[in-house]
Amino acid sequence: MDQNELKQAVARAALDYIRPKLDNDSVVGIGTGSTANCFIDALATVKGQINATVASSEASAERLATLGIPVYELNSVDRVDFYVDGADEANSALQLIKGGGAALTREKIVTAVATEFICIADASKLVDTLGEFPLPVEVIPMARGHVARELVKLGGDPVYRDGVITDNGNIIIDVYRFPIPQPAVTEQAINAITGVVTNGLFALKGADILLLGTTDGVQTLYPR
Ligand code: 5RP
Repeated sequence: MDQNELKQAVARAALDYIRPKLDNDSVVGIGTGSTANCFIDALATVKGQINATVASSEASAERLATLGIPVYELNSVDRVDFYVDGADEANSALQLIKGGGAALTREKIVTAVATEFICIADASKLVDTLGEFPLPVEVIPMARGHVARELVKLGGDPVYRDGVITDNGNIIIDVYRFPIPQPAVTEQAINAITGVVTNGLFALKGADILLLGTTDGVQTLYPR
């Protein structure tokens, strides 16, 4: 199986996981990225059973709408029952790095609201220690220089993601060469820098379940 087939397999597994739990009122949160896109395509096959979705990016909202799946503003719903999204890295505690697609802030907001976060990823995303993947940080544009200098003080190597503006009108700084042995501590430390909107560590609230695509099938992992 290639990486794309693994992504499709975990997307189907996520649909199989939530389908028996769906009722007429269910609200499904939708992530962003190539794996989340596979889930959106799978969801379209049961769209009659979906009451509402909320999307973590304009791109996902557009894909949902194109497939005829109802999309609501987060402020129009009073809860999100399930949030299904990919990740750039996950550790065994199901703490994540996200934001490779620059949607980290909206992803973190939907995560905060969701009752259950189902992460879907191919096996290459599971790591012992987070930080091999450069950590995305969403930053208010005028704070770019200040935030970069503070990230250097924390031990990272910040690189401006050229040409990228988030759905919220901000910029992304990716932090390279930055191993993260204590993800919750680092998540808080970076979020405390003035000018940071949020960073791509999902450690204070990580995933509740990880559906991991391997060549031997989809594994179901819970936080350890
Ligand atoms: C977007 C994200 C994605 O979930 C992450 O980048 C994984 O993407 P993909 O499924 O394409 O590998 O956080 O901001």
